[in-house]
Amino acid sequence: MSRQGAVTASLDDRRVSRVHVRIPATSANLGPGFDALGLALSLFNEVTVQESRGVRVSIVGYGADDLPTGDENVVVRGIRLAYEAAGRPFNGAEISCVNRIPSSRGLGSSAAAWVGGLCAGNALLGAPLDRQTLLDLATAAEGHPDNVSAALLGGLTVACVDGGSVRALSLPVPRRWRWVVLVPDTTSPTTEARALLPASVPRADAVFNVQRVALLLAALQRDAPDALGVALDDRLHQPYRARLFPWMPRVVAAARHAGALGCVLSGAGPSLLAIVVDESDRVSAAMTAALHEAGFPGSARAFDVDVAGAQSRVD
Ligand code: HSE
Repeated sequence: MSRQGAVTASLDDRRVSRVHVRIPATSANLGPGFDALGLALSLFNEVTVQESRGVRVSIVGYGADDLPTGDENVVVRGIRLAYEAAGRPFNGAEISCVNRIPSSRGLGSSAAAWVGGLCAGNALLGAPLDRQTLLDLATAAEGHPDNVSAALLGGLTVACVDGGSVRALSLPVPRRWRWVVLVPDTTSPTTEARALLPASVPRADAVFNVQRVALLLAALQRDAPDALGVALDDRLHQPYRARLFPWMPRVVAAARHAGALGCVLSGAGPSLLAIVVDESDRVSAAMTAALHEAGFPGSARAFDVDVAGAQSRVD
């Protein structure tokens, strides 16, 4: 047998017929870390995939009525991408999705779909692609590295695009910090929220964000939550996006008044993320009440950090 033949045969030996992948929700940016920071949260989508002829997708939970169930489904596109990268033909799959991450709310639902599809496809093939390759593929597909890095690696991730590749590291987060997410009952496509951003910014604003993102990482390392009042401020994206989310000033003020150390847009919005040490119930209630007072429905809930990232299991 040729060397290529031997490699192909051993990959085929490792192929499995059915896989299950669990992928966390993610909150990107954390204020000043636009397109760099991501945080994996204890809220998960699940996908179960087995190879078949043709594509069939069933969806329970968010998106059950409106997400595509054919080739254009993002989980399917992720699986196909993994097969293409591994040089294997993709003939179809039967896919069950349990979606607990609300779509288009700034909680990384599309990153979860790309990462879920890529991990599932890779696991079906016997894992020929390493995590770096999966990260690079997911970033190219998603268009920015922050959500996919946190979804794949877990924890609080710092991601840096370097040419065609992404360097990402997951950092520990003080365990006593909790994360309250307010999810309004409205969607906001990331593409629209990105289109509002200017192509260039004044140097003073770039320096403002560099200082704060550095302080935020230092505060995490030293468990110094008092620094967050300054460290979560941002001039690169939130000021431009604020007009999409008229409830934001009221909710941020209510969160801080109730004891939050800071409150920022989660990813490109519309959800808001508050960081809390002791007061998560009080902050959740205050954020929800402020949203309702502004005339919008929605609710808040506290999450822990998911430190595991996407987990694949052979069924
Ligand atoms: N960094 C991205 C943005 C995250 O803010 O557009 C989108 O979830």
